[in-house]
Amino acid sequence: MSTLTYLKNFIKDRNVASVTPSSMAMVKRVCEKIDFSRDNVIVEYGPGNGVFTRYILDHSTKGSRIISIELNANFVKDLGLIKDDRLHIYHDSAENVGQILNKFGIAEVDYILSGIPFSFIKKKQKDQILGITSSLLRPGGKFLAYQTSNHLKHPLEKHFPLVSMKYEIRNLPPMCLYEASTMAAPATNGIAHTS
Ligand SMILES: C[S@@+](CC[C@H](N)C(=O)[O-])C[C@H]1O[C@@H](n2cnc3c(N)ncnc32)[C@H](O)[C@@H]1O
Repeated sequence: MSTLTYLKNFIKDRNVASVTPSSMAMVKRVCEKIDFSRDNVIVEYGPGNGVFTRYILDHSTKGSRIISIELNANFVKDLGLIKDDRLHIYHDSAENVGQILNKFGIAEVDYILSGIPFSFIKKKQKDQILGITSSLLRPGGKFLAYQTSNHLKHPLEKHFPLVSMKYEIRNLPPMCLYEASTMAAPATNGIAHTS
């Protein structure tokens, strides 16, 4: 999908919320938090044209699974061009992630990435999405979200014990990168299971 087509989707659909896909510098910075050496189940909210999706697939093990949930039908069509058995694309809203994972028999996941514009989402629905997100992550799992402002820090702190935020200026527009983690499982061999 060209930048112009992406821009057209932005004009027609306010939920797209960004004029261009994320920059590769930002994709790499967000994905630094993922341990690609192991088999992961990764969920993506709002993959858009798949800039994160492709990077994750390129770096993931053969045994990993990626479940991408996208609301915009044009993006879903475009994502369908990615031929990879590890990828499952759903034309749906992030708030239905629980039902989607049920279909796979998946109770918990390692990482959830999100580019959906939480600032456009009403408080009740935002809390609902963040609550289910936190409950679906394994102990020590991470929710990695990118937003144009710092508005998500407090809502995240209601649902996650560990929340941090950094700025990434190598993107149009610059972004706030959030990392929200669930508590790591207690160590059984002296080494806590993190990342
Ligand atoms: C800012 S764009 C990010 C696109 C892509 N991840 C990137 O980094 O270039 C936000 C994306 O979230 C999608 N979106 C918005 N609300 C959503 C929701 N409730 N559930 C799933 N996708 C949603 C939009 O259609 C759009 O593709």
